[in-house]
Amino acid sequence: MRAVRLHEIDRERGPQLFRVEQVDDPQPGPGETLVKLRRAAFNRRDVFISQGLYPGIQLPCIPGSDGVGTVAAHGEGARGPAVGTRVVINPTLGWGTSQRVWQRSAQVLGMPHQGTFAEYLAVPAENVVPAPPSLNDDEAAAIPLAGVTAYRALVYRGGCTKDDVVLITGIGGGVQTFVLLFAKKIGAKVIVTSSSDEKLERAKAMGADVAINYKTSEKWEKDVAAFDGGPSLVVDSAGGDTLAKALNVTRYGGRVVIYGGTLGDAKIRPFSVFWKQLDFLGSSMGSPKDFAEMLAMFDGSIKPAIDKVYAMDDVVAAAESVERGAQFGKVLLAVGGA
Ligand SMILES: NC(=O)c1ccc[n+]([C@@H]2O[C@H](COP(=O)([O-])OP(=O)(O)OC[C@H]3O[C@@H](n4cnc5c(N)ncnc54)[C@H](OP(=O)(O)O)[C@@H]3O)[C@@H](O)[C@H]2O)c1
Repeated sequence: MRAVRLHEIDRERGPQLFRVEQVDDPQPGPGETLVKLRRAAFNRRDVFISQGLYPGIQLPCIPGSDGVGTVAAHGEGARGPAVGTRVVINPTLGWGTSQRVWQRSAQVLGMPHQGTFAEYLAVPAENVVPAPPSLNDDEAAAIPLAGVTAYRALVYRGGCTKDDVVLITGIGGGVQTFVLLFAKKIGAKVIVTSSSDEKLERAKAMGADVAINYKTSEKWEKDVAAFDGGPSLVVDSAGGDTLAKALNVTRYGGRVVIYGGTLGDAKIRPFSVFWKQLDFLGSSMGSPKDFAEMLAMFDGSIKPAIDKVYAMDDVVAAAESVERGAQFGKVLLAVGGA
């Protein structure tokens, strides 16, 4: 089969190191399902791996955590959707039995386990789930990792209801666009921030109530605090100074959920947390229950934001666009052809 592989990693040249190659087809082992993939989607994780900024990198590897395709075969004892069913892949491998937290051995699909940047993929049968009928292949490929991360952070950990005012920092992020989609479906009011006016306009078109440019508005946190008493729920993956400021403007009794730290460490003001009696919550990926509930959100009333579909041979251009952060919504790879 044709697959995208990384043989080396480099902090500067990372995105240029993805190569399309011919490799052996995977065979489904006991309990596994073989999926013929149609579309895959990029996450920042794939670029971080190419740059050596991810723990436990094993080379060569086939990255990619998101994919849609059809069931091609079942390994011995595998139970799941019938051959020919259109499916998406749950990218959390081996979550475990607790809804509260994943087990330490859990992994994200796409390094070390073969990822979705390939024509075929063999995965545990329980990770293969029928695709939401309301979504086409591009839309279905866009949702697994970003959708489940957003859903768990906003709904399971954050407890979002229609009465919340939700602050979403850096709306251009792949995960954050799903947080916006789900928060509006739940009926909450939403404040978004971004470095780009164009991304803010697109967020408003998706239902954001307030959109603030954190680059041009020096005191963006004051504008955030001024809306409707300030946020009762914050969802952040920027970390750094952004997280510190978000904690300062969260309402008394509010919740702050983090699932990433793109800007690095944050110097937080303990007073903001303890005096206002905030709940400060960490979240990562999602359980099988979160994944099923996230898929059910796509009942025809909402669609994920797609930035662009790249041919498999244009994988370097796709990776460079994710690295630049120029996208709004997901960057897709046509691994099963046009
Ligand atoms: N724990 C997990 O399970 C999990 C899952 C997925 C992702 N993550 C992590 O979450 C982070 C985001 O992932 P992603 O795939 O969504 O990445 P992404 O699509 O590349 O998004 C990164 C976004 O960060 C925003 N940003 C940059 N500087 C900012 C600042 N000063 N203030 C506010 N926002 C800022 C930008 O938003 P604008 O363009 O709008 O300015 C940018 O679009 C990464 O660190 C990733 O590793 C963790």
